[in-house]
Amino acid sequence: MQDQYNRIKDERLQDKVVTAQEAASWIQDGMTLGLSGFTRAGDVKAVPLELVKRAEKESFKVNIFTGASLGSDIDKLFAEAGIVHKRLPFQAEPTMRKKINAGEHLFVDHHLSHTAELLRANVIEPVDYAILEAVSISEDGMVIPTTSIGNSLTFATHAKNIIIEINMAQSPLLEGLHDLYDPGKQGERNPIPLTKVDDRIGNIGIPLDITKVKGIVFTNQADSPSTIVKPDEETEIMAQHLMSFLRNEIKEGRLTEKLAPLQSGIGSVANAVLHGMIHSEFKNLQVYSEVLQDAVFDLIDAGKVDFASCCSITLSEEKMNHVFPNLEKYRDKLVLRPQEISNHPEIIRRLGLISINTALEFDIYGNVNSTHVTGTKMMNGIGGSGDFARNARLAIFVTKSTAKDGNISSIVPFVSHVDHTEHDVDVVVTEQGYADLRGLAPRERVPLIIENCAHPTYRNQLWDYYNEALTRGGQTPHLLEKAFLWHTNFMKNGTMLEKEKVNV
Ligand code: COA
Repeated sequence: MQDQYNRIKDERLQDKVVTAQEAASWIQDGMTLGLSGFTRAGDVKAVPLELVKRAEKESFKVNIFTGASLGSDIDKLFAEAGIVHKRLPFQAEPTMRKKINAGEHLFVDHHLSHTAELLRANVIEPVDYAILEAVSISEDGMVIPTTSIGNSLTFATHAKNIIIEINMAQSPLLEGLHDLYDPGKQGERNPIPLTKVDDRIGNIGIPLDITKVKGIVFTNQADSPSTIVKPDEETEIMAQHLMSFLRNEIKEGRLTEKLAPLQSGIGSVANAVLHGMIHSEFKNLQVYSEVLQDAVFDLIDAGKVDFASCCSITLSEEKMNHVFPNLEKYRDKLVLRPQEISNHPEIIRRLGLISINTALEFDIYGNVNSTHVTGTKMMNGIGGSGDFARNARLAIFVTKSTAKDGNISSIVPFVSHVDHTEHDVDVVVTEQGYADLRGLAPRERVPLIIENCAHPTYRNQLWDYYNEALTRGGQTPHLLEKAFLWHTNFMKNGTMLEKEKVNV
């Protein structure tokens, strides 16, 4: 017990301790909740579960705003309990995905750097309760976040009420790793004074208006481990192609062996690509990313990465057991920032990031779909990929050339949903090779994309589409009546492949 109270160092808040059940009872139908949590890290774990329990006895709905996806099955339990009216800005959970696609609750899929601006400018629903996970509360009333920051600073600043979950299972060694900076209102702010990946520009915690703190709850539960799939043969080959591209950039004098600060998105492919750098000649690397997955810690341990800036740390169980007890070892190599800063266009452009994100599909001109399966069904969300792609020095998208046992070609005539337009996409990579699209006209891009990236079984089919489209002319030739035939064929026949066109 005393251990717990030692984590509330601000004496003014020591009488605020309540049970999770009591805290959950304050939440009313129609309210908007701002929860900490970003890609399964640093999410609040007790009050959400009590809300789910309440739903067994009464009917209510709330808006759930977070940093990104939640762990501890919270998104799943929320979805099953039917208590979500609107969810933003990101989720990655199959049950919630089903409910979204069935139209049972609303999902706003926006760039992760935008939530803070929209809240600050009073555009979206104001937050009634910010519910934030903390390692501790400092003597001067700052919430020390845990393994992610997400939107917690903005939630705390703009919410009407605050509930804090102090998680005893989160290491006190996390204190000092965070850097909280609020850029202020648009039109009144100064340039963000961050010019190097390892700059610290803010506080180590979230300053609290203690009059807003309604309750403090104690929990004792680790984050959910990531479900990342280890690199396989194809993702390793993709990593090799990406590294060939980077080597060429060095040869051309545009990069050095230090490359440029790296951002890598969520998912198995992006993790594998970073992992591939371990045995490369690249060195003294820096990472300026949203999520740090296992591969970044492998790169730090291998002496390849000197410093990593992130918004959350999402690791496999094995890696958690290695990293969290040894945080001292990483202290001078790590910083956690709010997602508004980790994903800020101003910083991404200033630092000149190399940004690597995953596509579901891309088209023969370089438009990328990262979110919608066959144009309609939400997968996870755009996450930070748009923040980075639009502003990076190099916007790279990776994907396997086929999905679902070869029945889907990830390279199509026209993407069925556009997240990243041809104007924002520099390089596309599959296990077949890469296409560097920079400075190329649409008609120059097509042969590169088909020959270097498409799976051989789909190349003739793509050429047929393009050659027929060429007869109609245009800056970006298309056959509008056939542009989505690949997707509709898949939905009708279970495959995009026209057997007679398979290369032999
Ligand atoms: N059409 C339909 N389904 C496709 C597909 C396509 N063109 N390409 C891949 N898929 C399916 C795969 O078959 C797999 O399905 P399964 O879960 O049933 O096995 C699933 O999509 C995931 O694909 P996978 O190849 O395992 O890649 P991943 O784990 O790296 O995830 C994204 C890929 C695109 C879903 C994921 O990276 C994402 O959500 N990205 C958007 C957000 C983002 O980029 N954020 C970056 C900053 S954090």
